[in-house]
Amino acid sequence: MTQVTNTVRFVLDGRIVEAQGVRRTTTVLDYLREDLHRTGTKEGCAEGDCGACVVMVGELNPEGTAIHYVAVNSCIQLLPSLDGKSVKTVESLKDANGALHPVQQAMVDCHGSQCGFCTPGIVMSLVNLVQTNTSPSRQQINDALSGNLCRCTGYKPIVDAAVQACSHKPALKLQDQADVPLLKEIARAKSPTLSLDGEIIVQPVVRTRKGNEFVSPATLGEVADYLVKNPQTTLLAGSTEIGLQVNKQFSRPEHIMYLGNVRELREVQESPKAWRIGAMVSLEEVLALTRSVYPDFAEVLRRFGSPPIRSTATLAGNIANGSPIGDSMPCLMALGADLILRRGNKTRTVALDQFYTGQKQNVLQPGEFIEAIELPKPQPGQVFRAHKVSKRFEQDISATCAAITYTLAQGKLTQVRLAYNGLAPSPCRAPKLEAVLEGKRPSEVKAADLDAAIAASFTARDGLRATWTYRALVARNLVLDFIEEPVAQEA
Ligand SMILES: Cc1cc2nc3c(=O)[nH]c(=O)nc-3n(C[C@H](O)[C@H](O)[C@H](O)COP(=O)(O)OP(=O)(O)OC[C@H]3O[C@@H](n4cnc5c(N)ncnc54)[C@H](O)[C@@H]3O)c2cc1C
Ligand code: FES
Ligand code: FES
Repeated sequence: MTQVTNTVRFVLDGRIVEAQGVRRTTTVLDYLREDLHRTGTKEGCAEGDCGACVVMVGELNPEGTAIHYVAVNSCIQLLPSLDGKSVKTVESLKDANGALHPVQQAMVDCHGSQCGFCTPGIVMSLVNLVQTNTSPSRQQINDALSGNLCRCTGYKPIVDAAVQACSHKPALKLQDQADVPLLKEIARAKSPTLSLDGEIIVQPVVRTRKGNEFVSPATLGEVADYLVKNPQTTLLAGSTEIGLQVNKQFSRPEHIMYLGNVRELREVQESPKAWRIGAMVSLEEVLALTRSVYPDFAEVLRRFGSPPIRSTATLAGNIANGSPIGDSMPCLMALGADLILRRGNKTRTVALDQFYTGQKQNVLQPGEFIEAIELPKPQPGQVFRAHKVSKRFEQDISATCAAITYTLAQGKLTQVRLAYNGLAPSPCRAPKLEAVLEGKRPSEVKAADLDAAIAASFTARDGLRATWTYRALVARNLVLDFIEEPVAQEA
């Protein structure tokens, strides 16, 4: 069955909810609390930081046999993007006899809750974790909770509760088999609707009386066609920037196009030389992809926001947003990543280090979008290092993040590519520093030469996150650290 205009349809605990007449910027959190009275899900910050609003969003697996869930911050997700999916809130957890889920019971037993405001979000993050990992380590539990702030209990009893809950393995899985056929019933159309003349018609999920639309196409062709016809459309990927703009800046884009249902954009394709990462591949998926090949990149991503942020946020969204402190870009630039840009049926390849033209300015033409990111595979002998410096370990914004690749040829640094965020109006390469390094043995590199190259490359500017003096010092010391290890190996 295809979608019904102006009705957002999603599955909630064994029934289909038809949300009618919602605004295109209504958040999932507001709808749950105000329309469905599911007030267990809380609003703390409304900007993806505190985790009080965490719910689980599910989609059918490719075989159509089970539901795959991710934890999301419902405060920054727009309701129309839920069309065709399922949602679980803290109220979903009680079983038919009224018994609590093992995670909830363990939170009670271990005294994991005091004022209780953070508790539903914490429970949902943990229940989401144990759907795929029923024996998590304490580190994995800590990671899963890194987007949930508790200001009164302290985390030890909460982590203890997670460990204790996992001794009840059979009861950890959500009883959601009744949701599977319902998800099939509301599945969104997988091919475009065509007019009698063969023209693509993108059916909106929501259309206002003024003609503003929220669309959610299923194919790349529809995306490209709609954007050429409506170049002012706001693209919606993981919503971790757009959700903030809606909540905090009261942004109300005319047309919004959600890309999450476009299969081609959710794929990672592998060739002998590179991975082609579709624009809707989540950062969690990129983290899994890079863990063994580029561990430092994976570590930067592990410290990117929190699991609910990374479960929806994308590389393409990070790149297109173009924040000066965007964290994925230094790694991608150092690794020589390219962007595949599409407008209509034409594509072009642009190196990421040529993408930005100023602060939050880039080379995208009206109607053009990022289709994929091409991440080169490691070359023999290539070293890749990256590190993010921020006040908190996770869920914090960089003072600066640096990344480097080089190859040691007869002990000398060659093919050096170095990139930073936080030092310039956009993330960028640092050619003057690369020149200082190129052709030198690591032991020959002088801190003073790096300092001079930093001073000649960037405009000194103090920021909210760090003074310029601190940033410049960190920028230099990171380079010295990145080249230090091979020296130790050579000795
Ligand atoms: C709590 C929190 C923590 C965060 N932590 C970090 C962090 O540690 N490091 C960091 O760098 N950022 C962080 N961010 C910022 C944000 O999560 C990232 O920038 C993220 O990668 C954005 O991706 P998205 O898919 O959610 O983008 P969206 O919000 O969906 O979109 C962002 C922008 O990109 C555009 N866009 C999306 N897809 C495309 C496309 N295919 N082609 C062209 N334009 C497109 C959109 O129109 C929009 O302008 C954080 C945000 C929050 C709320
Ligand atoms: S309300 Fe704080 S993360 Fe959503
Ligand atoms: S129990 Fe009060 S904020 Fe966590």
